[in-house]
Amino acid sequence: MTGTTPAPQGGPLDVPALLAQLTLEEKVDLLDGSDFWRTQPVERLGIGKVMLSDGPHGLRAQHEGGDHLGGLAAAPAVAFPPAAATASSWDVDLLRRLGRALAEEARALGVSVVLGPGVNMKRSPLCGRNFEYFSEDPYLAGHLASALVDGVQEHGVGTSLKHFAANNQETDRMSVSAEVDERTLREIYLPAFETVVTRSQPWTVMCSYNRINGVFASQDPWLLTRVLRDEWGFEGLVVSDWGAVYDRDAAVAAGLDLEMPSSGGVGAAAVRRALDAGTLTEAEVDRAVTRVLELVSRSQAALAPGQTYDEDAHHALAREVAADSVVLLKNADGVLPLDPRAPGAVAVVGEFARTPRLGGGGSSQVTPTRVDDALTALRAALGDREVRFAPGFALADDAPAEEVARLRDGAVEAARGAAVAVVFLGLPDAWESEGYDRDHMHLPPQQVAALEAVAAVAERVVVVLTNGSVVEVEPWQSHADAVLEAWLLGQAGGGAVADVLVGAVNPSGRLAETVPVAIEDNPALGNFPGEAGVVRYGEGLLIGYRWYDAHALEVAYPFGHGLSYTTFAHADLEVQVVEDGAQPRVRVSLTVTNTGERAGKEVVQVYVADEEASVFRPEQELKGFAKVALEPGASARVEVELDARAFAFWHPVLRRWVVEPGTFTVLEGASSRDLRQRATVTLAGEEVTLPVDADSTAEQWLAHPALGERLRAALEGTGTAHMLFAPETGQMMRAIPMRRLARFPGSPVDEEWLEKAAAEA
Ligand code: BGC
Repeated sequence: MTGTTPAPQGGPLDVPALLAQLTLEEKVDLLDGSDFWRTQPVERLGIGKVMLSDGPHGLRAQHEGGDHLGGLAAAPAVAFPPAAATASSWDVDLLRRLGRALAEEARALGVSVVLGPGVNMKRSPLCGRNFEYFSEDPYLAGHLASALVDGVQEHGVGTSLKHFAANNQETDRMSVSAEVDERTLREIYLPAFETVVTRSQPWTVMCSYNRINGVFASQDPWLLTRVLRDEWGFEGLVVSDWGAVYDRDAAVAAGLDLEMPSSGGVGAAAVRRALDAGTLTEAEVDRAVTRVLELVSRSQAALAPGQTYDEDAHHALAREVAADSVVLLKNADGVLPLDPRAPGAVAVVGEFARTPRLGGGGSSQVTPTRVDDALTALRAALGDREVRFAPGFALADDAPAEEVARLRDGAVEAARGAAVAVVFLGLPDAWESEGYDRDHMHLPPQQVAALEAVAAVAERVVVVLTNGSVVEVEPWQSHADAVLEAWLLGQAGGGAVADVLVGAVNPSGRLAETVPVAIEDNPALGNFPGEAGVVRYGEGLLIGYRWYDAHALEVAYPFGHGLSYTTFAHADLEVQVVEDGAQPRVRVSLTVTNTGERAGKEVVQVYVADEEASVFRPEQELKGFAKVALEPGASARVEVELDARAFAFWHPVLRRWVVEPGTFTVLEGASSRDLRQRATVTLAGEEVTLPVDADSTAEQWLAHPALGERLRAALEGTGTAHMLFAPETGQMMRAIPMRRLARFPGSPVDEEWLEKAAAEA
């Protein structure tokens, strides 16, 4: 090939010109990675390779070699708290700042795309990767992830929104088929992706390993092209999850642009065969190549060598994010915060206090730049107050009984006579990981036994939880005066926990997932994780609080719950229709006042309930939120705007979003079960006419604005009409499809009449 113009280093590429100069062979190669983390270069044209690295809560950049399960070493990077924690902050500004820090580290490490965030829904608390996901609610997950993506991408680094889609478990994740009806996909499992794509245009979307209704996500044209691009307007590149490709040629045709990691030529061979056979066109290959080149092009600006970041500042940010992610579940008699000047010793019990877990297992493990533990931080924060420590339990499940007893006795010794025991309990590292799910929600029995033993001698007990996904609290929480849900908090989590325990930070986290009383209450029970390669989403829309609300179930702690060291009053709710019709907009505003004595942050949560609908709708759904910081005594007017989607449902017949006319209730409060104010709003919405054909029921015909009249007229005075409208038989008769009714003796209309009328409607 002659006349080639090497792409300028550091600048954007001339993608159309390069495409024209690439040989077919080179194009096909570009659709595959060059190694574990990098795209293919084409040196003769000056097309460099770019590096993608996990994320999303800290970089796992492996410059040499690589693995996607977190086994091999990576360059040190700041380990920020994972999504289970950051979601509890309900703070979009914080997520955006976190994104910026990630971008700075990515630039310093030569990484062009951070592989995250993951916005899969927490369908079951048992999913091994829940620590990496935000919420059981698509609105919350979508808006937080969107802020993170903005923060990263505003600084010249890309993201990879993952795992698209319906990847809500780890069991059998490479092949399981998630059997989900379309309405449930549209209202629950896709909206977080949709929100991030439409608001933030992530540079890449990562397709998941699993199948959806039988079709691999990696080769599903409906998912990767129709929904993602045609409906949502996605402009970036679709990358496979690591090893998610099954038929490479079908994947290219469906819209999967880049296969990662390198398939060692297997993918390219399949594409070549399909090109030769004419089942794949060069235009389809060009489309994918263009997206790879565009990714390489947009990465150039941030690839300058010698970039650095302020590690101290990032560590401080990691601490701030962690502290704002902690959720104070319970605080009887104000046992917290701990006062450094109060009399009596503080007993710290639990291995997690000195051996923190930073994140969960698998691809998102970060090699931290340093690690703060809570014990050291608490000692520093409590100054002269005596702090005793005992590990209390072993982290290994199979520790010998004598060792378990010795550790427990040590904990009792430490707690005896102390004014307060702070007991760090949690899930051992190996219990939560990518690649497998938990099979129960309990804490290890030896930890519960240690707590009980400590509670028997300690005056007051505070439990600090370390876990990436919720655990059952009912079996043991009566032994605790206070419970702090401290998730997995990254490398600065120890300091953050101390900050909250002593009140240097007033807790403001709110649960982004319900803590059920027991796993038996969970909606996915019986279906999760499926069998024989299939997992049925039998609970449909009723995931998380939607289920607990619909079934009026008690929960241990509801979605949105979280206490503060101050109190807040909500008042003067106003709900105003800004725009009516098919695409309504409604403004919700209220006044929040800090009625306590400490500065604090309140999370205002806005839920919408559809009072009457033609389809089943959840009791209430989160449709807006805002976090507001207030000094003691201060008030702020908080405004939340609700768009059409806040009122719409996915119409299962029309297969689009519809806002039905009628009255909706807007509820606002401090949790899904601590609703403070409500107001109704009546919207004009959109009157929809459902299509009717000969197979529609008599009821559907009669409800149709044009056909109803026509049918009534045709039936008038006949026996059929009598049966259809008689109080005793009417309801039964009207449920019969018209085509069948037309065959009954004496019917004045026949099939032909029905088909003609339906066609004319
Ligand atoms: C995970 C992805 C990750 C990729 C690369 C896969 O096993 O599912 O989330 O980004 O590996 O490490």
